[in-house]
Amino acid sequence: MCACAWRLHVFTAALVLAAHLIKVLSCGEAGAGPRLTKRYVGLYTGPYFDPSAPNNITTQLGTHAYLPCKVRQLSNKSVSWIRRRDAHILTVDRFTFIADERFQAFLVEATDTWTLQVKYVQARDAGVYECQVGTEPKMSHFVQLNVVVPKIEIVGESELYVKAGTTVSLKCVITQALEEPAYIFWYHNDERVLNYDKSLVEIRMERVAPDTTVGNLIIYSPRREDSGNYSCSPSNLDSASVMLHVLSGEQPAAMQHGNGARGASPRRALLAAAALPALPALPALPALPALLPALPPAAPHVRPQLVLHRLLLLLALALLCPVLCHDEDDGK
Ligand SMILES: *[C@@H]1O[C@H](CO)[C@@H](O)[C@H](O)[C@H]1NC(C)=O
Ligand SMILES: *[C@@H]1O[C@H](CO)[C@@H](O)[C@H](O)[C@H]1NC(C)=O
Ligand SMILES: *[C@@H]1O[C@H](CO)[C@@H](O)[C@H](O)[C@H]1NC(C)=O
Repeated sequence: MCACAWRLHVFTAALVLAAHLIKVLSCGEAGAGPRLTKRYVGLYTGPYFDPSAPNNITTQLGTHAYLPCKVRQLSNKSVSWIRRRDAHILTVDRFTFIADERFQAFLVEATDTWTLQVKYVQARDAGVYECQVGTEPKMSHFVQLNVVVPKIEIVGESELYVKAGTTVSLKCVITQALEEPAYIFWYHNDERVLNYDKSLVEIRMERVAPDTTVGNLIIYSPRREDSGNYSCSPSNLDSASVMLHVLSGEQPAAMQHGNGARGASPRRALLAAAALPALPALPALPALPALLPALPPAAPHVRPQLVLHRLLLLLALALLCPVLCHDEDDGK
C-alpha cells in the first residue's frame, strides 16, 4: 500500500518534470507564458482550492462531463488529474497521459479553473477523480462523477390486444434523462407515424419532471391494419416497442381458424358494426325486443302448446301494436 503510493508519487513527479520539459521546449506556446509572469498583490501564500467549485458532477451517459478544479494563486505549479479507481494519471497540465482520447484538461484563466473534460461518458467512468497540485507536499481536491443512464419503456404489457374501434393510448416514459429529448418519433413497423389527421392519431410529449418525459400515441378507432410493432424513439436515446393486436370484435381464437373463417370475419365485423347504430332507435318501442326472440322459427310441424303460446303472443302483440300483428300474419 505504502510502497505503491510512493511509486505513484515518483511517477507523478516524473510526469510533472516531463510536462515542464515539453513546456520549456515549446516555449512559444500560448498559455504557458502569461501564467509564469502572473503577479499577486500582497503576500503570496501559495495555491489553494476555491471551495465554491462543485465537487459532485452528474452527467448523462454518452454526453461530455466537465470536472472543475478551481485553484487560486496557482503560480507556476502543475495541476494533475488522477482517476481514483486505478490511480491512473490522466493529465498533467494540458498534456494527456492516458491512451484514451476522451480525457483532456484545459485551463480557463479567467476563472483559475483547470477542467478535466471526459467526452462521451460511459458508465464505467463514474467514480472519484483527484485534482492534484504540484506543491510540496502535494495538495488534493476530489471530484465525484456520477453517470446516469436514462431509462425508456412503454407502460404495460409488451403485447397489447384491443377490439377494433376501441381507442388505444400508448404511453412511453423516459426517466433519468438530464437532457430532454428534442422530439419523440413513433414508428409503426418501421414506418413513421404521422398525425396529420388528429381525429385518427394524436401524438403528445410532455416534460413531467426535471428528468422525466412522457410521450403519448393515441389511436382513435384502430382497425386491424393498425396492428403491428409500435416503437417510441426519442431523439437522444434508444427506443422501446410494443406489439399491438387489433381484433375485429372477435375472440383471438376465432381468428386462428382456416382461410375460410378469416375471409368471413370482416363481413361479420361489418354486420356487427351495422347492427350497433340501430340499437339506440329501439327504445321507442321497448316491448318489441323482449317479445321478438320468444317467437319460434316458422316450422312445418308446430306442437300444440306452441300454437297456444303463439296465439297468446299474437293476442298480446295485437293489443300492443295492430300494424305489427298484421305484418306477422302476412309473413306466414
Ligand atoms: C451527488 O449528486 C448525486 C446526484 O445529484 C446524489 O445522488 C449524491 O448523493 C451526491 N453525492 C454527494 C456526496 O453529495
Ligand atoms: C516556480 O516559481 C518559483 C518562483 O516563483 C521558482 O522558485 C520555482 O523553481 C518554479 N518552479 C518550477 C517547477 O518552475
Ligand atoms: C419492434 O421494432 C423495434 C424497432 O424496429 C425492434 O427493435 C423490435 O425488435 C421489434 N419488436 C418485435 C417484437 O418485432
